[in-house]
Amino acid sequence: MSVIEVNSLTKDYGSGRGVFDVTFQVEKGEVFGFLGPNGAGKSTTIRHLMGFSKPQSGQTKIFGKDTFDKYFEILGNVGYIPGEIALPAGLTGWEFIRMMQHLQKCRNDEQLNYLLKIFELDPSGETKRMSLGVKRKLAVVTAFMSDPDVLILDEPTSGLDPVMQEVFIEFIRKEKERGKTILLSSHIFSEVDATCDRIAIIKDGKIVSDFIADDLKHASQKNYEIGFTDRENYDRFMKDSRNSAIVKIIGNDAKNKTVMIATDDKYINQVIAGLSEYSIGNFSHLKETLEDYFMSYYKEDKNFGGALQ
Ligand SMILES: Nc1ncnc2c1ncn2[C@@H]1O[C@H](COP(=O)(O)OP(=O)(O)OP(=O)(O)O)[C@@H](O)[C@H]1O
Ligand SMILES: [Mg+2]
Repeated sequence: MSVIEVNSLTKDYGSGRGVFDVTFQVEKGEVFGFLGPNGAGKSTTIRHLMGFSKPQSGQTKIFGKDTFDKYFEILGNVGYIPGEIALPAGLTGWEFIRMMQHLQKCRNDEQLNYLLKIFELDPSGETKRMSLGVKRKLAVVTAFMSDPDVLILDEPTSGLDPVMQEVFIEFIRKEKERGKTILLSSHIFSEVDATCDRIAIIKDGKIVSDFIADDLKHASQKNYEIGFTDRENYDRFMKDSRNSAIVKIIGNDAKNKTVMIATDDKYINQVIAGLSEYSIGNFSHLKETLEDYFMSYYKEDKNFGGALQ
C-alpha cells in the first residue's frame, strides 16, 4: 500500500479550471516532486489531499484512509505547509506554536528547539509583524515540530532567502534518510533536482508526465546540435531528415546553419554514418537537464517534451 494515494481526483471549477482525473502515489520513504506552472492545480490537489475539500469524484488517501472522511485520524501524523501562509492575528510566534502543539496533540520540545536552531527562528514577535520569510520559517517549524511521518509541502521555500533554502534542502535530505514520506510542490528546479526521487508535472489540471528523476539523467534519447559549413548542406540535411524514422528535428537556425536533432542511443551509429554525406563544421551533445524538460512544459506551444516524451 502506498503512503499517499491520489486516485482519479477531479474538481471542476468551470471554464477549464480545476483538476481532472489526477492520479499518483507516493511510497514510504520517497520524496515526490509536484511541479507545474501557476494555476496548474498543485494547491488544489494538495488541499484535497489534506482533506480540506471533498473531491467531486475520485479519492485521496493517506495510510490507506480517505483524507476527507478520516481527517482527524491522520492529522496527527501529517505535517503540512500551505502555499499561502495565513497566520491568525493577535498572536505571538510562541503562542502560535503552542496553539499548534495543542491541535497536533503533541509537544516535542527537543525537536522544536532543533528546528528553531537550524532555521534561525526567534518566535517571540507578533505574527502580524513578521516578514514573509519569518512567517514561512514559522510554518516550516510548526509543520515539522511533531516529527510526523508524512509531509505535504506546498512551495515550502517560497519567501526563504538562498541560505535558508539550502538549509531546507539539507533538512529534507535528512528527513528522507529517516524514512519520511514527502510530497513537495515547487517551482525551484535545483530544490527538486536535489531532493526528489520521482516527479510529476501537472498542467491545466492534468498530470502530463510522471517519471523517476534518475531516468531523466540516464535517458537513452539525446539531443545534438549540428553546425553545417554552408547553406547547401544545411538545406539538404533539413530536406533529407524531414521524414526520418531515426532522427527528429527539434530546432533549426538557417542563419547560423545549425540544426538540433533528437535521436535514440541505439541509432547513433547510423546517424553518424549518415552525417558523413554532409559537410559539417561542428557537432555537439545538448545536455537535457530537468530544468529544460520542465521549461518545455511551461511553454504554451510545447511540441517536444525532450528525452522522456
Ligand atoms: N476555490 C476555487 N474556486 C474557483 N477556482 C479555483 C479555486 N481554487 C483554485 N481555483 C482555480 O483552479 C486552478 C488551479 O489553481 P491552484 O491554486 O491549484 O494552482 P497552483 O498549481 O497551486 O498554482 P501556483 O503555482 O500559482 O500556486 C486555477 O485556475 C485557479 O484559479
Ligand atoms: Mg499553489
